[in-house]
Order: sequence, then C-alpha cells, then structure tokens
Amino acid sequence: MVKSIILNVLSLFTLVSISLAKNVTDIKDCPALSRRTPSVNINDLRVDDIKIIGALGDSVTAGFGIMGFDRTVPLSIASQKSKLEYRGLSYSIGGDRGAGTMYNYINYFQPEVFGASVGSRLAGICTGKIAIYIYSFYSLLLFFYIFTGAIAMNLDGELDYLISTMKSIKHIDFEDDWKMINIQVGSNDMCGACNTSYMDKVTPEKYGNYVDSAVDKIQSSIPKVIVNLISSFDLSQLFELTATNSQYCVARKDETGDTGCSCAANPEGLNKMKEFSKGYDQKLLEIYKKYQSNKSNSFAVVYQHCNFEFSKFSMEFFSTLDCFHPSLKGHTWLSKIFWNQLFLPQSQKPIHPLFNTEETIYCPTDSDRININ
Ligand SMILES: *[C@@H]1O[C@H](CO)[C@@H](O)[C@H](O)[C@H]1NC(C)=O
Repeated sequence: MVKSIILNVLSLFTLVSISLAKNVTDIKDCPALSRRTPSVNINDLRVDDIKIIGALGDSVTAGFGIMGFDRTVPLSIASQKSKLEYRGLSYSIGGDRGAGTMYNYINYFQPEVFGASVGSRLAGICTGKIAIYIYSFYSLLLFFYIFTGAIAMNLDGELDYLISTMKSIKHIDFEDDWKMINIQVGSNDMCGACNTSYMDKVTPEKYGNYVDSAVDKIQSSIPKVIVNLISSFDLSQLFELTATNSQYCVARKDETGDTGCSCAANPEGLNKMKEFSKGYDQKLLEIYKKYQSNKSNSFAVVYQHCNFEFSKFSMEFFSTLDCFHPSLKGHTWLSKIFWNQLFLPQSQKPIHPLFNTEETIYCPTDSDRININ
C-alpha cells in the first residue's frame, strides 16, 4: 500500500517533469529555472550553477570564417583587412546578443555567468578577455591565414592564459564558483599529419598526451570545474564533398594552390587524416573514461560525440570562406547539439548527429542536472 502510494507520487512527479520538458528553437522560449543555492557537489550540478565558461581550442572555437566571404575581395586582401574571427558567434563561448551559443544558453538561465567572447576581430591576435588564447604562429609567422590556429600541443599555453585570467577577474570567486571549460582541438593536428615538420607532433599518441595533460592541469589548478571534451571533426570527408560544390566557396586554395591542409593533397593523405582523426577520438574517449573511474565531488570530464557523416550534410554547414570552417548556421547547430548532449548520459548521446537547420534546444527543468555519467 505505502509502496504503491510512493510509486504513484513518483509517477505523478515524472509526468509533471515530462510535461515541463520541452524542445524549442529559441532559448528564450524555455521556462526559467527556479532559483536555488548552487550545488556543492558536481553530481548535482545544474546549468545555472555555472558562473564562468572558458574554452580552449583552435580556429573553429575562435569562430573563424563564420560570416563567410565577399567574393569581390581577393583572399590575400580580405585576410589582412577583414575581421575573420567572429568569436562572439562561436558555438562554444560566443556572447553576442541573440547568437546561438552554449554561453548564451547558460547565460539565459544564469544571468551572472562570465567568460564570453564578443564581437569580431582580425584573425590570429590574442584577446584580453577570458575565453581563448589562440596560438597563432601560423598566421603571424607564416601568414597562414586560412588555418589560423592551434594544435593540441598548444593547449598548455592556452590554459596558462585561461587560468591566470580567471584568477584575475574581480567578480569571480575562483575557489568557489562553478566553471565549465569546453575543449575542442584537432583540425590542424590532422591536417598536419602529412607535413614532415609536423607529423611527429600530431600523432594520436601525442594528441592524447597533450589533451590529457591539459585536463590534468585543469584538475590540479582550477577548483570546481567541469571539462567538456568535444570530439574533433573528421575533416578528411570534407574535401570530396566541397569539391563537388566548388561554386559554394571561394577560397579552398590560396594563390599557390595550397589548401592549407597538407593531407588533403591526395587519397593517401586523406586516409592518413581519417586514421589520425579516429585515433584522436579514441584518445578523448580514453581520457573521459579515465576520469570516470577517478571521480571527485568537484571535478568531472564529459565527452561529446561529433562523429559527423559530412556526406549527409548540406553545404550550409560550411563557411563560404573556405568550405572548411563551420558557417553561422553550422555554429548554431553545433551549439544546440552539444547543449542537448549535456543532459544525457554518455550511453544516450547521439553518435552521428545530423546537421539540421531546424534543430531544437532542450529546455532543462528544475530536476535536470548536467549529466556527468
Ligand atoms: C526533445 O528532443 C529529444 C531529442 O530529439 C527527444 O528525445 C525528446 O523526446 C524531446 N522532448 C520533448 C518533450 O519533446
């Protein structure tokens, strides 16, 4: 009797929470969460407990190329004169008003969250704001404008910058506020797999070690933090797709015919790239699993799949700048799928998310937690 009453109450509760749960296309249509005292335990973490977001990554995270390209301007001029990094629109930490970004979704539920990147800028110069510090040796030293950006090896330097910036921000309680750090790196690594001066720095083994040490350092130097490891895209699939849509983008090659991705030059290179990309993903999963078996109350690592089957994507996902970086629609979609994955246990996350401009955003309810399992 008592048992069945409890069961009834439980199922009523489930019904209520299901009816509150909804999927919307604009975060503003989500019901607000009831205010509460932030969790003391990462097992009980809600999105509105997050007070700081940071990101480590490469040109994708920096929002390179989001707004596409004006075909009337030669690429070499555009790269010097145009603002090519739209950090404020980056799926990860962009904070431009109304942009579809993970930062903005958290901000909707927690108005005091800090750490957004805003606006746009020339590619390859580091910003004073928290968020990311892009190592831009390519763009600065070699003037390698298409692929600004970092490889996993650079995470350590980015992280030092992130930590010191977080510590220096006045309204942040570095010890006690909850933080989320999004990490996505690998595009430049896999492209470098065929470059003789690079290949030994970008093997899956090395990649895994660099990412692992960054996560280790986060654990030992940043209190109360959730690390969101986002898998890298298997870019080897892109070139075939974009080659059949050559009208869509302008600048797959620079004046010398270089695509900026040494592995894209021939089928062997593309295979190498695919192999490395798979290897990176494997390493990220290993890192996620390592921290699953080593949990604490104030630190967790979650992992987001992006095993994209690009051949099934529409070109709209890509920037018209280079058919390599994601477009604004691409970033908006990425923000939604990674956000939605935050509430699901690993076993229920979609393995091959399919690009969809009508993708919805999950509205968390009071009983939803960031799922760290
Ligand atoms: C929201 O979308 C997810 C993923 O498509 C789906 O599993 C879930 O049932 C949807 N929830 C509601 C309340 O529509």
